[in-house]
Amino acid sequence: MKILIKNIKTIVQARTANKDKVSGKEMANLPCINDGWISIEGHTITGVGEMKEGLPTELQFDHLISADGQFAFPCWCDSHTHIVYAGSREGEFVDRIKGLTYEEIAKRGGGILNSAEKLNNTSEDELFESARARLHEMAMNGTGAVEIKSGYGLSFDGEIKMLRVIQRLKHHTDLTIKATFLGAHSVPLKYKLNRQEYVDLLINEMLPFIGYEKLADYCDVFCDRGFFTPDETDAILIAAAKYGLIPKIHANELDYSGGIQVGVKNKALSVDHLEYTGDEEINSLLNSATMPTLLPSTAFFLGLKYPPARKMIDAGLPIALASDYNPGSSPSGKMAFVLSLACVKLKMLPEEAINAATINSAYAMGLNNSHGAIKVGNRANVFLTRPIPHYNYLPYSFGSDLISTVIIGGKMYRQPD
Ligand code: NIG
Ligand code: FE
Repeated sequence: MKILIKNIKTIVQARTANKDKVSGKEMANLPCINDGWISIEGHTITGVGEMKEGLPTELQFDHLISADGQFAFPCWCDSHTHIVYAGSREGEFVDRIKGLTYEEIAKRGGGILNSAEKLNNTSEDELFESARARLHEMAMNGTGAVEIKSGYGLSFDGEIKMLRVIQRLKHHTDLTIKATFLGAHSVPLKYKLNRQEYVDLLINEMLPFIGYEKLADYCDVFCDRGFFTPDETDAILIAAAKYGLIPKIHANELDYSGGIQVGVKNKALSVDHLEYTGDEEINSLLNSATMPTLLPSTAFFLGLKYPPARKMIDAGLPIALASDYNPGSSPSGKMAFVLSLACVKLKMLPEEAINAATINSAYAMGLNNSHGAIKVGNRANVFLTRPIPHYNYLPYSFGSDLISTVIIGGKMYRQPD
């Protein structure tokens, strides 16, 4: 299909050259075109320009959109999710309201282990259908690329089942999907007294199979207090590298865990969460190509302290934002809300938050050459807002559904009601 979108009030994140990522002060620069047009052919953006300079002949397009008063954005890249899961955990939500902490719930066998039990009792088809529904909801909210982790299997069969579901999702959607193996999400109860046995299972049985069958792009470890130590993380990431799996890890959510440093040491593409980030961690990140990724809806939902985003950007670091959509700590994939939290709680400027959820989150999932900007040659992942006064209105008007149209891979996913 050939689509022409004209009379766009502002094209946000319009770029002419490829940009890997934006860091430090540059995060406050958001390139825009006012009164513009975008053309799409097949899966790809073929033209971007200003109305006053003229636009392609309308007759050659199958679909014409006049976006008067509307803003065009590149679809969000959500570089950290756990959307393959069974059941839900609203019981633990109430336990936390009554005073239990996330870690206390985890210690008594709830949390991730609760989801693991449910997942191991759910069929691959059911998991696929429920994850597909979540993906659809995310697409309706403007997300066009999603990284999805395993990590609720915690057994050979459970982890492989999850990764197979993610592979099926890749083939049944126009969204771009990346798969991450997170067998090291929690130590299963039966290995509590011999955790090395579980680490050995990950390294000697799961990783070789996953590598051979090409079931994952990345390898994750929850490197934090009460979960996996930096030494265990190091051993797992070194083993994963033998199969070409690049690290993207959970780090420093619950403590100064050493996770950031072990991620940087293993050339992680991203380290994620980072509520506990001090000078040492910032220095380690400054000397690396690792993308610090913040997940403010998790800190919001669990009542954790927020990561020091301002300090990190002011030190010159890039920041990516993602939803962490999962049943325990962030049961929502709504990126607009993540952006609002980034502005309100992390004190990020709207420009910084938009860069973090597009260019930088594309980098954090290895898609910086094709996603995260409205640029000729990029994948045609574009959403249009309803008429709004400014792009600042998007994070400001938190909770409102401001999206009118979503195009993913050149296909119309959502049209105005
Ligand atoms: O990113 N922190 C570790 N893992 C997930 C939570 C998973 C869960 O509680 O089910 C997270 O927050
Ligand atoms: Fe997570």
